[in-house]
Amino acid sequence: MARKNRTMIYVAPCAAATEVPPADVALLQATAASSAAVRARVRAAMRRANESEPLVARRFARGDEFFAWLGGGDIVCFGWVTRGPRWIGGVRMALRPDRAFLFNFYTFDGRRGRGLYPALLRAIRGVLGGTGFAEAFIDVNVRNVASAKGIEKAGFAPIARTEHWSVLERWSVNIAHEMLEPTSAPVFG
Ligand SMILES: CC(C)(COP(=O)(O)OP(=O)(O)OC[C@H]1O[C@@H](n2cnc3c(N)ncnc32)[C@H](O)[C@@H]1OP(=O)(O)O)[C@@H](O)C(=O)NCCC(=O)NCCS
Repeated sequence: MARKNRTMIYVAPCAAATEVPPADVALLQATAASSAAVRARVRAAMRRANESEPLVARRFARGDEFFAWLGGGDIVCFGWVTRGPRWIGGVRMALRPDRAFLFNFYTFDGRRGRGLYPALLRAIRGVLGGTGFAEAFIDVNVRNVASAKGIEKAGFAPIARTEHWSVLERWSVNIAHEMLEPTSAPVFG
């Protein structure tokens, strides 16, 4: 019912750059303004990843963006970007117009272990850097070693951490949170 979790929050600067896609994949970027066909592909990818499909419309409605690698006509790896609001480990993040929060990444079985996830994170940093973002944040449960490795390979550095109770896999009650580098601009709002 309730489980104690620890989350590491990472940050990386955004700078306009074009990531050369890994072999056989191309970048797909989708927003609320994308065609109905593209939005249907996003919903299908979320469904295949066992995510809730109605989340797609809610996220697009608040301005979130979806990024993915397309391979062989299918979405093989994806993730989301928001300007917020964003809560991590039961704590509200400090929002700024030039801050982006990356979340809900997934690489499909059969495509894992080929560096698609860190390459997508780098590609997103490059795209965000070209559209006025200065910093990208991402968080990971410390038990998720595969994700943490990918985040570090993509050039992100740990900046803060949280400890919280996850209740019924749905609610988070914060126990503790701290900046690792006190001189950095505050991450928590
Ligand atoms: C975390 C995740 C996104 C990584 O995607 P990826 O594209 O496989 O990333 P990488 O290729 O960088 O591999 C990361 C690590 O996964 C592990 N891995 C390697 N091959 C693997 C395979 N065939 N199957 C599973 N994991 C594998 C390795 O530990 C690898 O690290 P290494 O490169 O140092 O060996 C993916 O495992 C996933 O979708 N997991 C479930 C959802 C999740 O945890 N999302 C992230 C939190 S939002």
